[in-house]
Amino acid sequence: MAHLSECKYASLSDDGGSSSGGDTLEVLNQSHRAQQRRKRLRWAIIVFFIEIAQLLFFYGVFSRLCPRSGCSKLGPDIDGLADLAAYNTTVTFSNDVNIVQPSEFADNFWATYVPYSAVIAVDVKLVEKFNMPESAVSPTNSNEMLYQIDGFHELHCLFRLRRILVGTATKEDHAHTLHCLNYIRQTLMCNLDLTLGSTENLKNYGLKDKRICRDYTAIEAWVERNKWKDFEGWQGAKMEAYYKKLEENNGTLPEEEHKSSY
Ligand SMILES: *[C@@H]1O[C@H](CO)[C@@H](O)[C@H](O)[C@H]1NC(C)=O
Ligand SMILES: *[C@@H]1O[C@H](CO)[C@@H](O)[C@H](O)[C@H]1NC(C)=O
Repeated sequence: MAHLSECKYASLSDDGGSSSGGDTLEVLNQSHRAQQRRKRLRWAIIVFFIEIAQLLFFYGVFSRLCPRSGCSKLGPDIDGLADLAAYNTTVTFSNDVNIVQPSEFADNFWATYVPYSAVIAVDVKLVEKFNMPESAVSPTNSNEMLYQIDGFHELHCLFRLRRILVGTATKEDHAHTLHCLNYIRQTLMCNLDLTLGSTENLKNYGLKDKRICRDYTAIEAWVERNKWKDFEGWQGAKMEAYYKKLEENNGTLPEEEHKSSY
């Protein structure tokens, strides 16, 4: 704004200067051309500010339609969930096999970092408000429906696959783990990572490249806030009943009842 008024002031004093000058045709022509230049400049400035105003207007409308995360908004905006779709974290993948090979350290890593059940409880009013597909009603609160963040389902599948590879899986894991393998396949194909992984030795690709990722820590914090608080107790009671029944039946149960809940 200060810029504009300075401009105006300068052109006024210029006009005064030229009118007190000589009166030959050449001088008149020059002052006419100068005046036209100033006019064009003034128009350019006006158009510039109109453009800015227009941009701000459309930005306002657009950000109302697609709040913050842009149009990559994937789901209902429960407690800021839609914002977590943002890719706002830079990561380089780890090539550290200590995290996966058989060891107590790796077991602890997988047990604490990955197998969040991530079963979350959503108030039925929000299910309605966001027009979400209905899900099972919580056995411990009939005002809530239960969901699982899908990415954690896939991570749990990897958890099961690792158990087989390091030899800590039980036999009945296998059918479910094959389902898991198929689930991970489809997830990878659905969200195919388009990073162009570079190589130094024509053997390993993509180990050094920066990835733009979702903020896993922020997502974990969201899950912690919204999780079905009774999951562990409910799951524990269910497993207890299962083992009791197994004992009563001398170690055999129909196939259906072998399946764990996730
Ligand atoms: C990424 O965005 C989410 C959602 O707005 C936010 O909670 C988180 O702190 C952000 N992470 C970074 C590293 O900026
Ligand atoms: C379990 O085994 C015991 C003793 O071997 C037997 O008496 C009982 O009938 C068995 N129960 C079932 C459900 O098979």
